[in-house]
Amino acid sequence: MYNRKNNHLSVSILLLSVLLIGIIVYDEDIILKSLTQFQFSTPKSQKIQPHENPLPESNINEQQSSKLSATVGDDDDVEFPPESCDIFDGNWVYDDLTRPLYKEEECEFLTEQVTCMKNGRQESMYQKWRWQPKDCNLPKFRGKLFAEKLKNKRLMFVGDSLNRNQWESMVCMVQSVVSSGRKSLIRIGSFSIFRIEDYNVTVEFYWAPFLVESNSDNPKIHSILDRIIMPESINNHGLNWKNVDYLVFNTYIWWMNTRNMKVLKGSFDEGATDYDEVERPIAYARVLKTWAEWVDKNINPNHTMVFFNSMSPIHMNLDWNNPYDTNCGKETSPILNVSMPPDVGTDRRLSMIATDVIQSMQLPVHFINITTLSEYRKDAHTSVYTIRQGKLLTADQKANPNIYADCIHWCLPGVPDTWNEFLYTRIISHS
Ligand SMILES: *[C@@H]1O[C@H](CO)[C@@H](O)[C@H](O)[C@H]1NC(C)=O
Ligand SMILES: *[C@@H]1O[C@H](CO)[C@@H](O)[C@H](O)[C@H]1NC(C)=O
Ligand SMILES: *[C@@H]1O[C@H](CO)[C@@H](O)[C@H](O)[C@H]1NC(C)=O
Ligand SMILES: *[C@@H]1O[C@H](CO)[C@@H](O)[C@H](O)[C@H]1NC(C)=O
Repeated sequence: MYNRKNNHLSVSILLLSVLLIGIIVYDEDIILKSLTQFQFSTPKSQKIQPHENPLPESNINEQQSSKLSATVGDDDDVEFPPESCDIFDGNWVYDDLTRPLYKEEECEFLTEQVTCMKNGRQESMYQKWRWQPKDCNLPKFRGKLFAEKLKNKRLMFVGDSLNRNQWESMVCMVQSVVSSGRKSLIRIGSFSIFRIEDYNVTVEFYWAPFLVESNSDNPKIHSILDRIIMPESINNHGLNWKNVDYLVFNTYIWWMNTRNMKVLKGSFDEGATDYDEVERPIAYARVLKTWAEWVDKNINPNHTMVFFNSMSPIHMNLDWNNPYDTNCGKETSPILNVSMPPDVGTDRRLSMIATDVIQSMQLPVHFINITTLSEYRKDAHTSVYTIRQGKLLTADQKANPNIYADCIHWCLPGVPDTWNEFLYTRIISHS
């Protein structure tokens, strides 16, 4: 029985690989999809039930909901979770009273990559789950209060397309504080810059998928299968991060398509092309060391708050007990059993490295631990309701989620809004 299932799985993986190799790769999203073929071992330790289906009755009880409505309106009264509370430990609560934080159709800045409802998704339950820490509450998100806090300041996300996903979410969370015409979005070089005139606030994204220099640094053309990094070289990017008030870093997904990382011998500027193959955790540690030294040397903690996001998980090649349904493609509800983190193949060695490096730094870095809580959200990826090579998926592709689903990026509104609530909580409560 067990063997037969595994055979099915191997056959489907083989099929998948053949199909993927046949695809001409154009953009990062496709490359990310090619992840499916090789780097994740199929997790065996835990079976996750497909379509685990809680009836999403609102599980806010009356007492909680009257408490919620009591806080709506009195804008001065914001309660922060105590420092001692682990806001990343908790569970997802279905809450269609307070979620989503904005409406998909009301945020003009969302790109086609993430507007899942507009792209044909039938149910919007994924928008309505609220993260509830176990021992405290997150403060209600107030856009105006946040914009006041960010007045005359710059908030910048630095990293890969997951950080861009979070940046889009943040833009939507704050954009409603002013009417149209008083806000703008421009894309220039490695930057995407959203500006709110009335507050002199910018919410920016900077493309640097490895943080350090790499051959994948072009914000548009980075469909490179042989990714090569210069782990000790960061200044060219770092120049653009100086004097920013809030910096949010991440790097993970681009590490995941091969076991080893290619490390350039010499410099791109000098035309070097030779590289060494270095084991992923070793190369990752070298990169984070470079990043940490740059931050300690160039960032004034009196002026700038620095955040580092843990890995955004992927829901692919999973053993759902069904060889014909092996990824996030058809999932409509989160994993609600939080007694153990689900094993979806996340390389947790990398977050151990990150926490070690951060602890060794002079400058206090806020570690935003999004990994486990996002692992529960197999329902919330863009799946087949997204674009590929710049175009919406065709009906045929949509009918084939095992091959075409994007189980890396997230629909908006959705999970990245919660990541931003953590940032909001830390920024607002920081005096
Ligand atoms: C992140 O949070 C989860 C859930 O509380 C916890 O199990 C895990 O150890 C945390 N990871 C790190 C690196 O702190
Ligand atoms: C607007 O914000 C920038 C930093 O983001 C600051 O340098 C500039 O002085 C601000 N302008 C005004 C008029 O306050
Ligand atoms: C930060 O502020 C403290 C107290 O005002 C001051 O002693 C310290 O030198 C400042 N640090 C930097 C790097 O400017
Ligand atoms: C939750 O998951 C744990 C660990 O995988 C398992 O032992 C337990 O039986 C599950 N609980 C329910 C209610 O399914």
